Amino acid sequence: MFDGLVRNANLPDGRKGVDIGIRDGRIAAIEMALPGEAATVIEARGQLVSPPFVDPHFHMDATLSLGLPRMNRSGTLLEGIALWGELKPILTVEAMVERALRYCDLAVSRGLLFIRSHVDVSDPTLRTAEAMIEVRRRVKPYIDLQLVAFPQDGYLRSPGAVDLLARSLDMGLDIVGGIPHFERTMADGAASVEALCRIAADRGLPVDMHCDETDDPLSRHIETLAAETVRFGLQGRVAGSHLTSMHSMDNYYVSKLIALIAEAGIDVIANPLINITLQGRHDTYPKRRGMTRVPELLAAGVNVAFGHDCVMDPWYALGSGDMLEVASMAAHVAPMTSREGLRSVFDAVTVNAAKAMRLDGYGLHVGAEADLVLLQARDPIEAVRLKANRLAVLKGGRLVASAEPRLSTLRLDGRPERIDEAAYAPAAEA
Ligand code: FE2
Repeated sequence: MFDGLVRNANLPDGRKGVDIGIRDGRIAAIEMALPGEAATVIEARGQLVSPPFVDPHFHMDATLSLGLPRMNRSGTLLEGIALWGELKPILTVEAMVERALRYCDLAVSRGLLFIRSHVDVSDPTLRTAEAMIEVRRRVKPYIDLQLVAFPQDGYLRSPGAVDLLARSLDMGLDIVGGIPHFERTMADGAASVEALCRIAADRGLPVDMHCDETDDPLSRHIETLAAETVRFGLQGRVAGSHLTSMHSMDNYYVSKLIALIAEAGIDVIANPLINITLQGRHDTYPKRRGMTRVPELLAAGVNVAFGHDCVMDPWYALGSGDMLEVASMAAHVAPMTSREGLRSVFDAVTVNAAKAMRLDGYGLHVGAEADLVLLQARDPIEAVRLKANRLAVLKGGRLVASAEPRLSTLRLDGRPERIDEAAYAPAAEA
């Protein structure tokens, strides 16, 4: 009566030992001890079954290009931007597609099935847009890829950017991007936000801007973005990515700003791996962390999600498509190490990120797509702690990736022979 069954699963909301029945690619039932048979049965054995990981902020056109045409020696944002500038003229569509497909293979193995990628549309050839549209088509059976038209060199600062952004949207990019803090002046930054929100309103598209990715406490383009969102009636379809300047802002001003963000229904996307490494670079000691104010935004009812941003590219030499590493870094940087905080960093790379990407049919409920990840961990906190192994990944009920459990063999007298890293539970759950 089912096409597939997942037996004895723990769910992120705390339900334990339930069965999930799958029919026609969708979740047909979630109950204790579901009666019935299925062609495919996955035994979860009391481990966590989650909806897939969602990366709401990535750069697929640059991924896996580390070392091309040379390494970023300083590891700074500015050298990364310079390097990307050197690389862009020699990029080919074929090479970008090939690297992106390889990254998507890795993503699927990590249970990451939804990605929003910013596409640099500042080169007149628009090769990046052409390549990413091809990737979006090729990965569609297993990854939903949303593409943001991102004027990396500045919408008003870079000659031709106004036309290139419009052309890239005509080609089929999904979302209007921006980078107001990179425009020449604060006034130009505000003007770019207004112009880009107007385009989104005219074309009926969402907005996702790199906004205030700086340590400058006076970089306040998020205030303009919130105001323009309300003015153009874009509530619920605008995201502010990074917002790192909020880390350095005056507390009194932030108390006003967070209410404006909440009023505008803006989704906030922090990128903890990148914020902690690229911000605070002009500081001696103490060094600022540079991530936006995640707990305070959440407390105000703002939807906050985390992105990976970069993997092995001019800006970041590390990363492996593991959204649990992203969540773990956020827990450390925020810091959010209370039980509630640790649970909410898991939400920020699953349900909150899905909300920011406005995904339909996402989640663990009857009628949702049967997109599921079985983790080698019993609950979300353990998953974050271990960056847990992905034992099985299902897309529309079909097994698209699997892994053997991670077990180690010990060779110690008087100690167990085999240990399972997921078998170290807290003495009590509060
Ligand atoms: Fe970014």
